[in-house]
Amino acid sequence: MAGLGWSSGPALAGAPETASASVPGAAQIARGHALAERSCAACHGIGGNAVGPQFPKLAGQGASYLERELDHFRSAHAGAQPLRRSPIMNPIAQGLSAQDRADLAAYYASQTLRPALAGNAAELPLGASIWRGGIRNREVPACAACHGADGHGIPPLYPSLAGQWQGYLLSQLRAFRDGTRDDKGPMRDIASRMSESQIRAVADFAAGLH
Ligand code: HEC
Ligand code: HEC
Repeated sequence: MAGLGWSSGPALAGAPETASASVPGAAQIARGHALAERSCAACHGIGGNAVGPQFPKLAGQGASYLERELDHFRSAHAGAQPLRRSPIMNPIAQGLSAQDRADLAAYYASQTLRPALAGNAAELPLGASIWRGGIRNREVPACAACHGADGHGIPPLYPSLAGQWQGYLLSQLRAFRDGTRDDKGPMRDIASRMSESQIRAVADFAAGLH
């Protein structure tokens, strides 16, 4: 599935040298690998398995999603702030060319995620019920509708959350809620209707999916 995202991407079509037409993206993945080791591994880990919850795992994430996020870290919103604000990632993404972004996304999508574990057993029933059924009296839809029953997402639109750090998922739900992350999509609205304890429980549940 991940292959569909990058092999059909416009950046690949425009790439000057593709090593082999029979293995689409192999050269691109190799370029992404080299760049990732140089510029990203310190925080996102070897092969995109970041070692701590302040840094998201990128391994196995959909390539289109990764490219889109790198773009959101760059693109100005109403001429001022990027859609997604991060003092760390904003300058890094600014320094990447469109080709770099496509190569890095292809590389990380080709890697295998090492899942996290759900942390707090007491919160899991609430997290599971929000994941599968949403929160009716707040009009929050089931997360599974877009992120998949198993949390692996639905490329190219919906990212995988399964096995991601609970702490990172929590920080992103808070960022959607307070507007420092704007997806121009459903997440701001969804997160703004959830309480802190609901956010915490569902982040914990998603981290334990694999
Ligand atoms: C100094 C540490 C650091 C480095 C180096 C770094 N990142 Fe990040 N990255 C972060 C942090 C922190 C976040 C979470 C930002 C947020 O809260 O939105 C992040 C988020 C991301 C995301 C969003 C993931 C998601 O699930 O939405 C992508 C994609 C990403 N980084 C790619 C890269 C790439 C590619 C490189 C190398 C060119 C890189 N990063 C280098 C710290 C780093
Ligand atoms: C209608 C579809 C839809 C539903 C329902 C939905 N999401 Fe999302 N979610 C998205 C999209 C689209 C994105 C990508 C946003 C972007 O590009 O910044 C996303 C992104 C996220 C992210 C950020 C992932 C990352 O790697 O940074 C988290 C966390 C998340 N969703 C959690 C949830 C939770 C928890 C629920 C259930 C309460 C939920 N979502 C329900 C569509 C949905």
